[in-house]
Amino acid sequence: MNDLQLTIELTKHPKEKPAADQLAFGTVFTDHLFTMDYTAGRGWHDAKIKPYEPISLDPAAIVFHYGQTVFEGLKAYVTEEQEVVLFRPEENLKRLNRSNDRLCMPEIDEEFALHALKELIRIDKDWIPNKEGTSLYIRPFIFATQPYLGVAPSATYTFMIILSPVGAYYKEGMNPVKIAVESEFVRAVAGGTGSAKTAGNYAGAMKAQEIAEANGYSQVLWLDGKERHYIEEVGAMNVFFKIDGEIVTPSLNGSILEGVTRKSVIELLRHWGIPVHERKISMEELHAASQAGTLEEAFGSGTAAVISPIGELFWKGEKMTIHNGEIGPLSQRIYDTITGIQTGKLEDPFGWRVNVFE
Ligand code: COI
Repeated sequence: MNDLQLTIELTKHPKEKPAADQLAFGTVFTDHLFTMDYTAGRGWHDAKIKPYEPISLDPAAIVFHYGQTVFEGLKAYVTEEQEVVLFRPEENLKRLNRSNDRLCMPEIDEEFALHALKELIRIDKDWIPNKEGTSLYIRPFIFATQPYLGVAPSATYTFMIILSPVGAYYKEGMNPVKIAVESEFVRAVAGGTGSAKTAGNYAGAMKAQEIAEANGYSQVLWLDGKERHYIEEVGAMNVFFKIDGEIVTPSLNGSILEGVTRKSVIELLRHWGIPVHERKISMEELHAASQAGTLEEAFGSGTAAVISPIGELFWKGEKMTIHNGEIGPLSQRIYDTITGIQTGKLEDPFGWRVNVFE
């Protein structure tokens, strides 16, 4: 794959950029995209950066019928020194390949993908918003393009990267979100695709999400698919709790997404000398802690959501308010540090930032 050449065609019709204070999540796209095709027996070929435009696919393409597709989400920022940086992109590319493997899709060359991504961002760098709480969201995705109605891995694929200037994922911004604990539907079971970043996991979650939203909740907290006792993750985030001084997060059990922000939070806490326990956490334990007044803080972590405090959990008809519905000190400290490192306001002792121009 090392002989892959990247060709570049620039747009003749640059679009108008949105005002940074008007940005929602994932509604506006930049001037260019990256695309590359795969053909069995030939490998990846035709790597291009070109103007952003709709694509044309055969209606029988496998992706439409059997959902053979994977994606990633990461972000770029402009620092106060006008450097353009990415946050741990190698982690996302590694995970993309783990998802590829789970969905019987071809591996990508992570080094080449990072090279192409940096080039794309250099071209569209003026789209990176620099207002507090905004960033350039990066969505790499790969999908099966072979026209075939038999259930089998496709012989052809397309890998694309699109870019979207974004504001906060939740309309609440940094204000705590309200989350409904889901007892009826399940997201994933061990052995399924829960730890892969694949479209079907999200499509299957929409029913529960819709019901939660109709009841005034931002997202659902998923429980394990077998016993429906143990906490897994929230719709677009991993989740952490502080219970009687102990910081806990569900252990990676095969059905939970291995979040890059989750990993960063754990590494940061350990760097601060604060122990984090990755273990099973039951809803019963959380409820008992809430009753005893020892459920001190809860927050979600994710690329899109960053660090999102949870102010209320709704479970079996009961509201559990956390930290008076306000952001707790630990969640605030983690938010400030992670976003500080991401945006270049703080030192980066871990080497997490990657300069797009180097
Ligand atoms: C992300 O945090 O980047 C995600 O992929 C979650 C998403 C489905 C918006």
